[in-house]
Amino acid sequence: MQVIILPSARDVALYAADCVVDVIDARTNPVLGLATGSTPIALYKELVGRYQSKQVSFRHTTSFNLDEYIGIADSHEQSYRTFMNRHLFDAIDIIATNTHVPLAESQDAGTLKKSAQDYEASIQQAGGIDLQILGIGLNGHIGFNEPTSSFASRTRIKTLSESTVVANKRFFKDGEFQPHLALTMGIGTILDSRAVLLMATGKAKAEAVKAMIEGPLSAMCPASALQLHETATIVLDEEAASLLA
Ligand code: F6R
Repeated sequence: MQVIILPSARDVALYAADCVVDVIDARTNPVLGLATGSTPIALYKELVGRYQSKQVSFRHTTSFNLDEYIGIADSHEQSYRTFMNRHLFDAIDIIATNTHVPLAESQDAGTLKKSAQDYEASIQQAGGIDLQILGIGLNGHIGFNEPTSSFASRTRIKTLSESTVVANKRFFKDGEFQPHLALTMGIGTILDSRAVLLMATGKAKAEAVKAMIEGPLSAMCPASALQLHETATIVLDEEAASLLA
């Protein structure tokens, strides 16, 4: 695990954009793992800018997102598919059918299990993930692998922890249905990526970052699993790094 501390959140986004472009330049058919949430928005904005100024093309890129809420349609305002279309896919030249977000609209357990298995198979068919972008939850989650998730877990249904539901409440209108379940890549799925880049910015993430980097390997901090990954890079702004020894 390599840790890089940069002065600002903007520097973190620029660093991550350089990593993404390097992978795209190096591979004939690059495969990216992508995340939603507040943290990667600046990265996606930077990538859109570089695409517009013809510094990068996503024509041959395939993408797999980490997770999707269960029980809301792809077209729902708060679905992660909508998020990705809005912040990245609709603004670049990636081929829509090469973008993958777990299919999780159904509430039927059998359908969701099949969807999870198909997702794993699609990642394999694409040749595996070259670079997985991650954020970190306040409780140390990666994807929606909440504390107690197995380090060997694969794409599956997860119940969101109360703190994650509270943290994501800001995105839903008052009284609107807010999912408490998600379909998420597992920690084992994430660890299979050839490289991982976790971005964390802001003081609120400092404790989770400390547990991930300096804490023991523990299912109580799912991100600590990245200590096992030889090519995991953790890129932090000074605030997120502020509790590191
Ligand atoms: C999003 C995801 C989550 C977020 C994490 C941090 O696809 O899988 O693990 O990366 O909750 O979210 P933000 O960036 O909003 O703090």
